[in-house]
Amino acid sequence: MIRPLAAAPTEPVTVPPAVRTLAGDDHVTPVWRNELGGLTFRLTGATETRFVKWVAAGTPELDLDAEAARLTWAARYAVVPHVLDRGHDEDGSWLATAAIPGRSAVDPAWLARPKDAARAIGAGLRALHDALPVDTCPFSWSAEERIARLDDAAREQVGPVPAVDRLVVCHGDACAPNTLVADDGAPAGHVDLGTLGVGDRWADLAVSSMSLGWNFGDGHEAAFFDAYGIAPDAERIAFYRRLWT
Ligand SMILES: Nc1ncnc2c1ncn2[C@@H]1O[C@H](COP(=O)(O)OP(=O)(O)OP(=O)(O)O)[C@@H](O)[C@H]1O
Ligand SMILES: [Mg+2]
Repeated sequence: MIRPLAAAPTEPVTVPPAVRTLAGDDHVTPVWRNELGGLTFRLTGATETRFVKWVAAGTPELDLDAEAARLTWAARYAVVPHVLDRGHDEDGSWLATAAIPGRSAVDPAWLARPKDAARAIGAGLRALHDALPVDTCPFSWSAEERIARLDDAAREQVGPVPAVDRLVVCHGDACAPNTLVADDGAPAGHVDLGTLGVGDRWADLAVSSMSLGWNFGDGHEAAFFDAYGIAPDAERIAFYRRLWT
């Protein structure tokens, strides 16, 4: 998965008819295009702001049903988007959520303050791991299950699974853009929870710290680990980065 391709769209974006219908009189702004071509729109109304994720029909890797189920479960414990609508037509499928106040950690305001952003991402991940209950989480993101989905060559490359350090409910895609940050630098919430599930906390820590380099350049990992409250574990970081790619 080549994460750096996901970004705010620079080319003009055609708004799918379903998103137009959902928007009604609201103002529609394309805010994100992911590496599979999925789009996110902000719908700005007089009294509320919504976000709509839309994926073209036949994009199986992006399972909005899985994301809606995880958001609904996690919303009891953490600040994550509240699901407003879920639907599909012949063109594609969509998930509408209520806006969480805050900016993405890769908003230009935070790209200009990478150390503060890295701290917010680390503190936010820690808060998420502390808040979500492992015992009652119905979703798994274990290394063993993820490895079982690989072909033999990839499995060989990933190597043996390290012993679990601590089981938590992992975000599952803890890349920098998926943390929202308040204007005072405090973590404000998490989005993009389509693969949330129980796994070793290093599955998130490895990928989240790696994504800092993509978005902010080198040199911010120490601030991230410090804000999470953990010392880097080179072996588990290397394993979970191999598993990610
Ligand atoms: N409910 C929400 N409140 C605030 N911002 C949101 C919300 N939903 C989405 N966003 C914004 O839209 C962006 C894209 O949403 P999301 O990360 O869910 O899409 P994605 O295409 O799955 O992303 P990725 O490229 O990481 O796979 C987020 O980074 C965030 O800035
Ligand atoms: Mg995202």
